[in-house]
Amino acid sequence: MMQEEQHLEAARCTEIVNPNTKDAKYVINVKQIAKFVVGLGDKVSPTDIEEGMRVGRQRILEQRKSLPIASVERRIVDEVKKNDTVIIVGETGSGKTTQLPQFLYNAGFCKDGKVIGITQPRRVAAVTVAKRVAEECNVELGHKVGYSIRFEDVTSSSTRIKYMTDGLLLREALLDPYLSRYSVIIVDEAHERTVHTDVLLGLLKNVQFVRSRSTIKQHNFDNKSEVSNKEDKSQCFSTLRACQGAKFTSLKLIIMSASLDARGFSEYFGGAKAVHIQGRQYPVDILYTYQPEPDYIDATLITIFQIHLEEGPGDILAFLTGQEEIEAVERLVHERIHQLPKGSQKLITVLMYSSLPSDLQMNAFKPAPYGCRKVILATNIAETSVTIPGIKYVIDPGLVKARSYNPVTGMESLIIIPTSKAQALQRSGRAGREGPGKCFRLYPESEFGKLMDSTVPEIKRCNLSNVVLQLKALGVDDIIGFDFMEKPSRMAIVKSLEQLLLLGALTDDYRLSDPIGHQMARLPLDPMYSKALILASQFKCMEEMLIVVAMLSVESIFYFPREKMEEAKAARKKFSSPEGDHISLVNVYRASAECLEKSRTANSKEKKFEKALRKWCRENFINYRSLRHAQDVHSQIQGHIQQMGLSLSSCGDDMLQFRRCLTASFFLNAALKQPDGSYRAMWSSQTVQIHPSSVLFRTKSECIIFNELVRTNQNYVRNSTRVDPLWLPELAPQYYAVEN
Ligand code: CDP
Ligand code: MG
Repeated sequence: MMQEEQHLEAARCTEIVNPNTKDAKYVINVKQIAKFVVGLGDKVSPTDIEEGMRVGRQRILEQRKSLPIASVERRIVDEVKKNDTVIIVGETGSGKTTQLPQFLYNAGFCKDGKVIGITQPRRVAAVTVAKRVAEECNVELGHKVGYSIRFEDVTSSSTRIKYMTDGLLLREALLDPYLSRYSVIIVDEAHERTVHTDVLLGLLKNVQFVRSRSTIKQHNFDNKSEVSNKEDKSQCFSTLRACQGAKFTSLKLIIMSASLDARGFSEYFGGAKAVHIQGRQYPVDILYTYQPEPDYIDATLITIFQIHLEEGPGDILAFLTGQEEIEAVERLVHERIHQLPKGSQKLITVLMYSSLPSDLQMNAFKPAPYGCRKVILATNIAETSVTIPGIKYVIDPGLVKARSYNPVTGMESLIIIPTSKAQALQRSGRAGREGPGKCFRLYPESEFGKLMDSTVPEIKRCNLSNVVLQLKALGVDDIIGFDFMEKPSRMAIVKSLEQLLLLGALTDDYRLSDPIGHQMARLPLDPMYSKALILASQFKCMEEMLIVVAMLSVESIFYFPREKMEEAKAARKKFSSPEGDHISLVNVYRASAECLEKSRTANSKEKKFEKALRKWCRENFINYRSLRHAQDVHSQIQGHIQQMGLSLSSCGDDMLQFRRCLTASFFLNAALKQPDGSYRAMWSSQTVQIHPSSVLFRTKSECIIFNELVRTNQNYVRNSTRVDPLWLPELAPQYYAVEN
């Protein structure tokens, strides 16, 4: 087996350093190249390995030099030296994310131990890019180059180029409001306009303002004569105002975007300079369907096999809406591979979505073994966030999963909506990076014209409780007056304030409450989940709540393959609790921990018990990737909890106590059964149904609490637990006393 894996590796590397191919496409990793150069035999000498590594490094250097951004290095560095804010616009794959931080590092922006921070909207991008850049710099990850994402920190005091999620930088600002460690902050993928990006832009604008003031004037910043202009003054947060007399170096801000329109950013930053990088794009044939496709999963599957059988070599990238769909398509592809005609080329699948465990994410970047076609099943993460080499065919069903918020009902839900024109163009562009390509849009051409030009910024379509809580923690008192690039609706802000008030995070005069509000702001979780953990410490069921929060932070723990539906259902029954899904999740987590424990005592090797866990997951129809992610999240939150000094108690078998705690935490998500068998959600007054995947689906309890509302053809609530309706006024009198 080992031998086989090594051969596979060698086959992959053939593509990399074949001396006859001038334009080596796949440069993955120096070690892989070295392996190929020196062979895989046992008698490889250290000098051979050294030689192999040298060739590998040379290859990577050559590839870097050929990137479009390489020719404008000098110009960009000059612009950054001259201007405080620079906007950089360039096609995906032009080298912005990997190269620019290195340019700035080499130009001396990390003098005096300062750090260059690069924010990404997604974890996957932060991790894969940091790995790549560490490789390019020939350093160990976590030293000069590192990354930090929620629940995972791979940096050290020697880190100078730090990739992170935008949400993480916001958290850092809580501890270091002037972000004083950073000389440069690069906001990458700004065109995505995630809610974190938008909040971050507002925050950075202020930090930059304060830091430039303190540098120029070098003294008392809040002095009236210094900031005479009323507008200037209103820009400063109260905590930032407290920096009187502090000395800072100025902060360089770089906004990077893959969408060509930089106007919005430029205007927001007072007419900031924009630099355009001339990209390299080959022609892409766009093909449409004649009719709308009723089942996009099926249409995707058919298109994958059509390309595989009828088109020339080149990898396929298919855009799907989420982990569940991706895994469904993966299974279907594997089922049908066996039906391929004898002698046809092999086809392998690789997955790419945000919550994929980081070691599995790197698979997408490895070239397919020789004589094999790779199909990457990805979410919109592959639009611009990560650049995967080798793609020639793109399949675009034209859909995306997006957050949607109704400020009237106060409900947020995830819905599948058509992409924007800008997204469709980004997607098709992925087929023309290395040569001419083809993009299969799974909708009729007439539909394209109806798409919106660009995506609505997320801040205008999400629940703002988290944003409001974070801004409050940063000292922004006037949320409505905050300088957002695009203002969310007043109604949405008011609704979030109301929610935070009910959760006890804010005092009656809308200040962060002590200690609850401060504790909630410290936890990197949705406010309702943070509150649940704080309450769990009082209800003495922290262990159980910690598991639930971790399990709810990942997608789809259970899976139901179509062909083994009955078996899967039977397996699931073993974990089911008649009280509801939350306790079932605790049961799954505990059973998996038991399995790990057993194999740990039996074996000492990490690999062995990973294998045992995989086997256990397969047998029990549990999604291994999701469970692994939940374990990561669990250990990270546990760290936070311990730091905060909350007690790690367990309620043992007393699940009543745990359900009461769930009620006290998720009272805003309570629903009462109606005479017709449907439910009425209390906070939003919407009619909802229990999701068929719930253990409560057929039981029809009188009152439930739930975690998530999903809207398809109906409103479904997911993850519900049966509770006593009388607990509501008892445990949440701030909300229910009046109603009843
Ligand atoms: O940010 P931008 O889209 O402009 O490009 P980038 O992410 O800096 O990628 C530049 C090049 O590095 C791409 O052409 C990729 O082929 C390569 N790359 C890679 O091989 N592996 C990664 N993890 C990231 C980038
Ligand atoms: Mg990039």
